[in-house]
This record gives sequence, C-alpha cells and structure tokens, in this order.
Amino acid sequence: MTIERPAARPANPRFSSGPCAKPPTFELNKLADAALGRSHRAAVGKDKLKAAIEGTRELLGIPADYRIGIVPASDTGAVEMALWSLLGERKVEMLAWESFGAGWVTDVVKQLKIDADVKTADYGQIVDLASVDFNNDVVFTWNGTTSGVRVPNGDWIADDRAGLTICDATSAAFAMDLPWDKLDVTTFSWQKVLGGEAAHGMLILSPSAVERLESYTPAWPLPKIFRLTKGGKLIEGIFTGATINTPSMLAVEDYLFALDWARSVGGLQGLIARADANAQAIFEFCDQNDWIDNLAEDPATRSNTSVCLKFTDPRIRDGASFAKAVAKRLEAENVALDIGAYRDAPAGLRIWCGGTVETSDIQAMLPWLKWAFEAEIAAQAAAA
Ligand SMILES: Cc1ncc(COP(=O)(O)O)c(C=O)c1O
Repeated sequence: MTIERPAARPANPRFSSGPCAKPPTFELNKLADAALGRSHRAAVGKDKLKAAIEGTRELLGIPADYRIGIVPASDTGAVEMALWSLLGERKVEMLAWESFGAGWVTDVVKQLKIDADVKTADYGQIVDLASVDFNNDVVFTWNGTTSGVRVPNGDWIADDRAGLTICDATSAAFAMDLPWDKLDVTTFSWQKVLGGEAAHGMLILSPSAVERLESYTPAWPLPKIFRLTKGGKLIEGIFTGATINTPSMLAVEDYLFALDWARSVGGLQGLIARADANAQAIFEFCDQNDWIDNLAEDPATRSNTSVCLKFTDPRIRDGASFAKAVAKRLEAENVALDIGAYRDAPAGLRIWCGGTVETSDIQAMLPWLKWAFEAEIAAQAAAA
C-alpha cells in the first residue's frame, strides 16, 4: 500500500531548535550596513552594540536599572559567567528537568564544588517549584529546550528573596513573558527565538546581582573572559557596548535586523502570539491523533517554542529508531529539517515554534508528519 503524500509543502522547512529559522523577511543583503572591517570600539561599532543593548531593553521591557551586556560564547558563556562570578556566597539550589539544566548542575557541583541542593525531574516533568527556598541562590532554566517543559510563570519566585535567581532563558526570551522583578540574572543567545547568529550571549543583571558582584569575590580564579568587575566595581562599559573582547559585527548587524523585524510583528506580544499559535497547531494535532503526544505532561508547563513530541502507538517496536526514521523521511522530503529529539532526550521529535516560524508552515508540515508516521508503520510491518 502506498501512502499518499500531502499536496502542500511548507514554504520554509526549517524547524530547528537552534540555530532557529531566520526571520521570514531575512536576506543576506539586508546586513549590508554591518560595520565590517571597522573597530568595534570606533563610534560606528559602539553605536551598533549600544543599539543592540537598548533594542533588547525596549523589546523585552527590561527595567531601566537592570544592566544588559553582550558577552562571549553565546548563552553558555553568559550562564557560566554568572555561575562563576556570583555563586559561592551562600548555598545554591539547582533546578533541572532536562539536559541543559543538568549541564548547569555539573558546572556547580562537579566543577565549582559548591554546596548545592539539587532538585531534578525526568523529561516531561518539572521539579516541585513550591519547595524552593529563596534564602538560597536558585539556578534554573525557564524553558527546558530538550524536554519542552517550561515553568508556567514566575509566581513561585519569592519577592522578598535573600538569594539571587539565575535564569537560563535562552529558548524563552522573546517568546514568553519574563517577570523581570523575579529574575536577578537572565541569559539568552541571539541564535534562538529571534533567529540570530550564535557566538554572543546576553547577560541581564538586576540591581541585586550587581550588588553581589560588588560585595563578593569568589574563592576561585576567574579568566578574563568571565570578569565583570575591576577593583570591586562593576565594569560598566560591558553594559554599554564596550565588550570584553572582540564581537562579530556581522552577528551584531544580524541581531539588529532581527530586532527590527520583531518590532514589525508587534514586539514582544506579537512574538508571543506567533509562538503560541504555532504551538497550538501542534497541540491540536496531538489531540486529533492518538499515536502522538506532547512529552510535557502538565499542559501548564508545555513549551510554546521547543515543542517535544513522543510516539505512543503500541505497534512501534523500537522507539528510538522509529522516531529517527520519521525525522529522516521528513528531511528527505525537505518538509521538516532538524526535528529529531535532542541526543540526551527520550526518543521523539522536537519542533521549534518560536516567532520566526510561520504558522502556515507548521500547518503545512503536520500532514507530512502523519504521512511519515504511516509510511514508517507500514515499513516496519513490511520488514517484520
Ligand atoms: C536551555 C539552553 N541553555 C543553553 C543552551 C546553549 O546555548 P548556546 O549554544 O547558545 O550557548 C541551549 C541551546 O540550545 C539551551 O536550549
């Protein structure tokens, strides 16, 4: 039996969870104004770096007294800079429910060897947020990109906390509401929701985080690339565009383009609405098909960016090879690229739904997913 291919194809088959699809209006020649071959410390370079910082503040609604810095090594660089610079002053609580959160646990427990209370949950679940003690510093990931599980909101974070909250928000920023008064350190990378380029991370500090930086010196050495203070004072230049080392001005131009595009779709609320509509199309597809389900168990924790799916059909014999084969069929048809589950996550698919993805492309791709599933079930039966 041949299973008929759907008639329509997505205009853009890019559903990778990072680097994510470029904004729909992107063309390389739109970066022609990049300050290439110029010093990033010349006025032209500095102005662009400052525009990247202030555009971020404006679009994300970040309070005026929060510092925003462009730092090296993408989101990982921003998170590790914060962990190495701020932690050790008090006990730490580490919250992890997927691979990236687990990576930060390794940093804190095995590398920094800090006294930490580690709370973990399996893929698809979330830790007990009500049990968090905010006398401690708390490290968590807003959206677990590899399980598609996010915190539902920031209500669980104490207003009168004594410790700091350190939040890896790389697959949440520009797609979810982030309550800035609850977040002392927030990080993200340009390569995620806005479809920018990797290499640079954004480090956002509350006044409390700055106070910690200026009053506490960690016991371990800090490489230059992590140093945020000099002589016990914050290096303010980092937060006005005087980066620690040389940034890519091409990546900066690309980010400025992405910010402009974000404004054109209604800013943060427009971006959230786009991600919500994309994710909703997939949620409805799961409701309509009894062979596929969201990996995130509690609907309140379901990501609207990295939507992770599991196959639930009892006929499937080897879940991992089945999911890989489905993803391979979709890639071969050029209807969905890079949608295999993350290497450490349970077998399944992960479909990026951030705002740069068009809902019409998700809708055009889903019948193909059904086609690939049925084709693979048939192939499995034929091989038996
Ligand atoms: C939650 C989370 N943290 C960290 C990272 C690492 O980001 P980067 O490669 O930009 O450093 C990712 C990348 O997918 C992520 O999803």
